[in-house]
Amino acid sequence: MKSAAVVFVFSLALVGLASCGQYVPNNWQSGGQDPAEVEVVELPFEDDGGVQQVHITLAPHTSAPGAVVVSFASSTKAEEAGVYYREEGVGQASFAQARMTQYNHTTFQNDGTYTSPYLYHALIEEVSTNITVFYEPVLTQEQGVTLSRSLRVPPLASAFGGDPEQEMKLAMVGDIGQTSNSVQTMDHITQELGDVAAMVVMGDLSYADNIDARWDNWGRLFEPVLDKIPLFGLPGNHEIETDQEDGVSFRPYAHRFQNMPTCDNGCGGFDNKGWKANMWYSYNIGSAHIIHVSSYHKYEAGSPQYMWLDRDLSSLDRTKTPWVIVNLHAPWYNSNVAHQGEFQSYAIRREWQPLLCQHRVNMMFAGHVHSYERVFPTCDNSTVDYHRGITYVNIGDGGNREGLYNNWLPGENGRAGPIWSAFREGSYGHGVLHIMNSTHAFWKWHRNNDGDKVTRDTTYIVNEVAWEAKRDDKETVKESTTFVNNFFDVQISFIPFFILVALLCYSIAITVLYKKRNAAAKRDYESLTEMSVTNKL
Ligand SMILES: *[C@@H]1O[C@H](CO)[C@@H](O)[C@H](O)[C@H]1NC(C)=O
Ligand SMILES: *[C@@H]1O[C@H](CO)[C@@H](O)[C@H](O)[C@H]1NC(C)=O
Ligand SMILES: *[C@@H]1O[C@H](CO)[C@@H](O)[C@H](O)[C@H]1NC(C)=O
Ligand SMILES: *[C@@H]1O[C@H](CO)[C@@H](O)[C@H](O)[C@H]1NC(C)=O
Ligand SMILES: [Fe+2]
Repeated sequence: MKSAAVVFVFSLALVGLASCGQYVPNNWQSGGQDPAEVEVVELPFEDDGGVQQVHITLAPHTSAPGAVVVSFASSTKAEEAGVYYREEGVGQASFAQARMTQYNHTTFQNDGTYTSPYLYHALIEEVSTNITVFYEPVLTQEQGVTLSRSLRVPPLASAFGGDPEQEMKLAMVGDIGQTSNSVQTMDHITQELGDVAAMVVMGDLSYADNIDARWDNWGRLFEPVLDKIPLFGLPGNHEIETDQEDGVSFRPYAHRFQNMPTCDNGCGGFDNKGWKANMWYSYNIGSAHIIHVSSYHKYEAGSPQYMWLDRDLSSLDRTKTPWVIVNLHAPWYNSNVAHQGEFQSYAIRREWQPLLCQHRVNMMFAGHVHSYERVFPTCDNSTVDYHRGITYVNIGDGGNREGLYNNWLPGENGRAGPIWSAFREGSYGHGVLHIMNSTHAFWKWHRNNDGDKVTRDTTYIVNEVAWEAKRDDKETVKESTTFVNNFFDVQISFIPFFILVALLCYSIAITVLYKKRNAAAKRDYESLTEMSVTNKL
């Protein structure tokens, strides 16, 4: 049976491969291994002094689990600025006053000093959970303002007493930028509006690269999605943007985004003249506790970030938050030639991996490498067991101007890639993490085939902590020793078409056989192991 399954996997992979090893977009000039610069999409803009660049995030905490932050910009300085909002089913609108900030940024690329628009952030604390909120940012308070925008506050997080079995979807994306490829990725995320609770960005948001007018362009370009889907960000290397005059880094990012402004568990980072935006922080959403950390701040044992991370992980109760996910920019495992052997990857992994594994973190998402890769669950560098350790996903393929990376390290042990690499592909795209209940999540990565969103990699993620707690028999999880190669990476476009057709017919026959066998064993844990394997397709 096992050999039949392997042949089935192999046949399908061959059929799939004939057309889809990697997707090179129409507008990608080089078409080769060298990343090509891609044009920034400039949105025409005439400043009328009004509200622009509206984007939202969530700020759930114990006493206000539905809290929301609305951020916006304007060239008008308005002491009264804020947000009118109304929950669905409530007649009367309320008003939340905004805080205002502004920054100067002196860089060579800015050709001197850039002064930002006034940046407004309004915290709305008095909202319920699992509800639609209609809202409108304003510069002056007046009667009868039309609330033209809306957002959806997710159901009560299990950490605050919600159901730990509740489902939730999150859109996962990294290294977005502002090219036509970025626009496609964000269009695809917009298609998930109403389905995903939030968009999680693994750093490198705008690729403004010291040209601050590009931050403004980014804010306007993606306002149609960022004012509907809450964004949780983190600092990447493109957020560093050190000021040439005073040497302060992360200033544009910190002033434009508010990450958990209510954060009461000591999270921290940038602090500039009383203006604080968090570089590392955590939040509870659905049944997950999600931690955002910085690859570009001190990380050693004893550093503020390490001490905070240790404290945050130690305070968790997995019966309340069954899922724990850590997100950062520089990946710990990466089999792409790009960004190999970077300090921020290996040094932080060496320092933090024992801590994260000790606390049995379920998944880690990263960006930085402009391609997609999923790594088998592991706490060292090798894997023979699909359910032990952290599942790592690199999703730096949002579409930025530096282009794709599709040059990979060679295989090991007869596989196309290193033994720990489950799936890799150099295409633009984004992923959706579907937390189904406390024990199972379904991960799906889509690539952008120009206008279309095509699913390329899927797998179940088993939450071993919740699973072990639930299992009737407390036997330790049986080790899976078979290893299925990742056939996607083999280049076989020269194979004649008739062979593929023959294999397709064969694979259909095997599928039927395989499904019959699989159905019988579906409900027990060993069959879930097999599901994870076959679902890699
Ligand atoms: C920016 O620089 C100008 C000119 O030096 C100064 O007047 C202004 O106060 C500065 N703004 C901020 C927010 O630092
Ligand atoms: C959230 O609200 C929707 C309808 O608005 C309802 O169907 C759903 O059951 C609610 N979910 C929770 C967890 O309360
Ligand atoms: C994992 O790889 C790193 C270098 O990439 C090495 O320093 C470390 O010892 C390896 N760990 C294990 C458990 O093999
Ligand atoms: C959790 O979801 C998985 C996948 O759909 C399912 O097999 C399992 O029975 C679910 N568990 C519970 C307790 O509902
Ligand atoms: Fe990066």
